[in-house]
Amino acid sequence: MGLPGEIHAFPLDITETPRVATVVRDIESRVGPIDIAVLNAGTHTPTPIPDFNPETVRALFDVNVMGTVNCLSALLANREARSGCRIAVVASLAGYRGLPKASAYGATKAALINMCEALKPECERFGIVLSLINPGFVETPLTDKNDFPMPFLISAEEAADRVYRSFESNRFETVFPTRFGFVMKTLRLLPDRLLFAITRRMLR
Ligand SMILES: NC(=O)c1ccc[n+]([C@@H]2O[C@H](COP(=O)([O-])OP(=O)(O)OC[C@H]3O[C@@H](n4cnc5c(N)ncnc54)[C@H](OP(=O)(O)O)[C@@H]3O)[C@@H](O)[C@H]2O)c1
Repeated sequence: MGLPGEIHAFPLDITETPRVATVVRDIESRVGPIDIAVLNAGTHTPTPIPDFNPETVRALFDVNVMGTVNCLSALLANREARSGCRIAVVASLAGYRGLPKASAYGATKAALINMCEALKPECERFGIVLSLINPGFVETPLTDKNDFPMPFLISAEEAADRVYRSFESNRFETVFPTRFGFVMKTLRLLPDRLLFAITRRMLR
């Protein structure tokens, strides 16, 4: 899909708190007010118990949670002037329930889901449309590391199209692919005993 206009790149490490605020100011002074911000940067390291350690978990929280917090905080600093701005946070269906070997990644995404739910009504008061994107498996370098068959895997182009189309609706949460979203929403409703019966099998 082609879009009109020019692309300007503003390189940034989202874990560098003061720099994030500077880049938001640079973008707005050079290109104009931000209409849509997609907070997509994130990373994944599998954490089976031998790799479950403070360094690995902290590194994931630094990027996925604190990096997103840096971006949200920089955008919300100017909240009085942001009416009509859309901010979409990319979390994951992995944030719905604890899945084996994804204890750290899933926890970061669960944190983002909760955080966005909490911020949503306050954002509304400033006319800011905060939304949540919860993808399933998308074919990218992030999932190339996975050594298991990924159900309902979709291409990065299809995922980008779903994110783009999410801006046509006022829905808080966008989930894709639809069928995998349905599976994961069902998992969220299961009692713990049934959840663990399923996740134990995922370790075999
Ligand atoms: N792929 C999936 O199946 C899947 C499913 C659910 C959710 N997600 C989420 O979707 C988002 C994108 O994932 P992806 O699959 O496209 O992963 P990816 O291929 O590993 O790409 C991650 C992107 O995040 C950027 N990034 C990582 N750390 C950063 C930092 N500290 N500062 C600035 N940018 C940083 C990377 O930039 P560089 O290339 O410059 O490092 C890259 O553009 C992530 O939040 C991920 O958790 C992915």
